[in-house]
Amino acid sequence: MHRQSCDASARGPAHLLLGTTHVNQQRPRLVRSFIGDTERVTASSRLVIVANRLPVKQVEGDDGEHWETSPGGLVAALKPAMADAGEVAWLGWTGGLDQVEEPFDHDGMHLVPVPLSPVERDLHYEGMANGTLWPLYHDKVQPAEFHRHWYDGYRRVNQRFADEAANVAGSGATVWVHDYQLQLVPGMLRQARPDLKIGFFLHIPFPPPELFHQLPWRNALTNGLLGADLVGFQTSNGADNFHRLAIGLGLATRETKRALIVDGRRVRLKGFPIGIDNARYNAASSDPEVVTAAQDLRARLGQPHKVLLGVDRLDYTKGIDVRLTAFKELLAEERINPSQVSMIQVAEPSRDGVDAYVTLRENVERLVGQINGDYGRVGFPVVHYIHQSRSFEELMAMYRAADVMLVTPFRDGMNLVAKEYVATRYDETGALVLSEFAGAAAQLKDALLVNPHDIDGLKAAIVEAVEMEPDEARRRMRSMRRVVRRNDAIDWATNFLAELSSS
Ligand code: G6P
Repeated sequence: MHRQSCDASARGPAHLLLGTTHVNQQRPRLVRSFIGDTERVTASSRLVIVANRLPVKQVEGDDGEHWETSPGGLVAALKPAMADAGEVAWLGWTGGLDQVEEPFDHDGMHLVPVPLSPVERDLHYEGMANGTLWPLYHDKVQPAEFHRHWYDGYRRVNQRFADEAANVAGSGATVWVHDYQLQLVPGMLRQARPDLKIGFFLHIPFPPPELFHQLPWRNALTNGLLGADLVGFQTSNGADNFHRLAIGLGLATRETKRALIVDGRRVRLKGFPIGIDNARYNAASSDPEVVTAAQDLRARLGQPHKVLLGVDRLDYTKGIDVRLTAFKELLAEERINPSQVSMIQVAEPSRDGVDAYVTLRENVERLVGQINGDYGRVGFPVVHYIHQSRSFEELMAMYRAADVMLVTPFRDGMNLVAKEYVATRYDETGALVLSEFAGAAAQLKDALLVNPHDIDGLKAAIVEAVEMEPDEARRRMRSMRRVVRRNDAIDWATNFLAELSSS
């Protein structure tokens, strides 16, 4: 068992988490067998993971700086495939600027840092990735900006990732590219290395063509994905959208509902809903230390009758503000009693170089201040707001202490927090209020599904969750736990690689 954490590219809130991965001895072999018996080329890899971020971060210790595996579901899912460092490589950005690092081995992974300069961070990461594609792909809940110099920076950085992947991949190797920051990479890689098997997985929603068409670089980004043999989405809806888009733009022809033809080559499309390391959450939730920490937490909250919880990156897609507004109205209408109900909102700092995130923070903090000003007592705020990352252990205690989990994004690829909460409810207690616009809603049908744009509906769901009878909660939780257990992170990675190998 290795200390490590969840989700790098699927870093929803799961990327807040630290913990232990169960390295299943059977599965690594299984995953590797999908990669094929390609001849090993010196200093080359048979499986190359390409993601914007490396699954490590640099931390200051007593004896100087060292690398630590950073939180992320992606690493939890892929770790079993990486048991043999040297044959499996992970390419990504360290998050530092102008840092030129040599490849190194860490925690059983062979890591290849891809450097970014401050200008590239501004153009590629904060600009095109998070100022253009992120809002566009999330239904434009914030306006998307289109700037040619952002796109130029994005293209340059994508080329660097593609070149680096081409260098480390052995002959006939498998390369798995992740997420919207690297959408041009499959096409670039196909040009340089037609011998490779290339997969791409998008961790965020893929928008309807009507929205995507606004992109001045729509053809280039679509062709980028069409460079892959298999393009995976969180939901089948994403696959349908891309199918329609590529045909509509005249860049591919239809083979089947799930396959396109590009230059005589087949590109398969499919939904692969990402999961969590269920066994790890399930086991940790009944750990005596977590049980005690959860009891302490409730005591520190003043033993409220009910605890509500939100855990998110501080992102405008997450609907934190609408959730707080609904809660505030329920308090004003006396449908929720502030001396009986407490709310914890963890909002992990994120992308604070992007203006929309700064504005969101101001709004959220104003709302928290208003609620506590109007309904709190000295020593007993109603909303406990934490603008920090929390450790895995602390989050586990929060999940265990919470009677109601609020997951209300306006749009979300999957939302792993919803699954993490469910995985910790080993006693089948607790209620989940879940946005119907999160990918998770397609699987967690027994949550209280809400439209986060409908504040009255959201208020009704919060009240229903607070007042839910134990039998009803148990019935719903049991069914959701089954879904989370049967679709875990390792199944996700294994299924994707199996499908890629057969494509
Ligand atoms: C989402 C994206 C990931 C990204 C994560 C954290 O989950 O799908 O690709 O890594 O958010 O965002 P950050 O900008 O900090 O990498």
